[in-house]
Amino acid sequence: MYRIVKKELLVPNTIYLQAEAPEIARKAQPGQFVIMRVDEVGERFPLSLAGWDEKAGTLDVIFLIMGRSTMKLASLSEGDCIMDIVGPLGKATEIESYGNVLCACSTFGVGPAIPLAKALRERGNRVISVMEARDEGFLFWEDRLKEVSDETHIASGDGCRGKHRRASEFITEHLKSGHKLDRVFAYGRVFMMMECSRATRPFGVKTTVALTPVMVDGTGMCGCCRVSVGGETQFTCVDGPEFDGHSVDWEVLIKRKRAYLREEAQAYDLWQPDNLRKIAGLAGLPERSSAV
Ligand SMILES: Cc1cc2nc3c(=O)[nH]c(=O)nc-3n(C[C@H](O)[C@H](O)[C@H](O)COP(=O)(O)OP(=O)(O)OC[C@H]3O[C@@H](n4cnc5c(N)ncnc54)[C@H](O)[C@@H]3O)c2cc1C
Ligand code: FES
Repeated sequence: MYRIVKKELLVPNTIYLQAEAPEIARKAQPGQFVIMRVDEVGERFPLSLAGWDEKAGTLDVIFLIMGRSTMKLASLSEGDCIMDIVGPLGKATEIESYGNVLCACSTFGVGPAIPLAKALRERGNRVISVMEARDEGFLFWEDRLKEVSDETHIASGDGCRGKHRRASEFITEHLKSGHKLDRVFAYGRVFMMMECSRATRPFGVKTTVALTPVMVDGTGMCGCCRVSVGGETQFTCVDGPEFDGHSVDWEVLIKRKRAYLREEAQAYDLWQPDNLRKIAGLAGLPERSSAV
């Protein structure tokens, strides 16, 4: 069992959790994720590592409330326990001396972008971070991102923080105005990662994205997380989760992520009426969020 040490609603529908998991905290590296099961009848679902503290033996995750499993997780309080956390899983990010690196992030992707930016900077890279948010009310952890970046920019859908509404717009303008980028990383919603990859492609800037297909076992055995990259089938849990954004077949990924929408809605609707009391205190409860 893994005890929840901290829980915080960051912005509507987005929760930060810190849990005790010393074995995972000891081995975690940027780019990796865990698979959780909230209780004995719970489904397994992956979340990216947003941080870890080897000394305290804790790990951090940020998650959006999407459906039954994330709602169940959100209904737990500090002091409650998560039944299973497996990890760290997936290949760690290749941290090298690239030069000028841009880290684009949105929603839950802000979490894993922080250990990534920190590690890239420690390796001597110049790190520019761009956080994309729907509007000012959805911005969080800007201070943490600033701490690990040489420059931090905000792209906000409501234009509250300058002219860029999307991270991809920032990238295009930055490259068009003659700035050099040696590598781009994009973490977060699928559309954001796809748009960032499209923005860098004409300039030939290698772009690494962290894919989020449906996963089940997380060990390469079930094939559920397969994606098409450069015309080849890859299993995200063992070959990824990071891939070259210019080679990802985004259409296939989006289709596969939406394959079980009806069943997911049914599972949510069956669980919710019996648990209304547990979730009554959760601010910003969504109707049901979109998968991508
Ligand atoms: C490597 C990886 C890292 C991820 N990191 C994060 C993170 O840090 N924060 C975060 O909020 N989300 C993350 N996700 C997505 C997260 O796993 C899903 O949002 C979650 O599983 C939804 O489950 P649910 O039962 O609440 O919703 P459901 O109603 O079951 O599903 C809603 C949507 O979530 C996706 N989904 C459902 N089940 C799974 C599953 N078993 N595996 C993956 N996706 C699923 C599908 O696209 C589905 O349409 C990550 C996914 C992957 C593959
Ligand atoms: S989740 Fe089963 S092969 Fe990746």
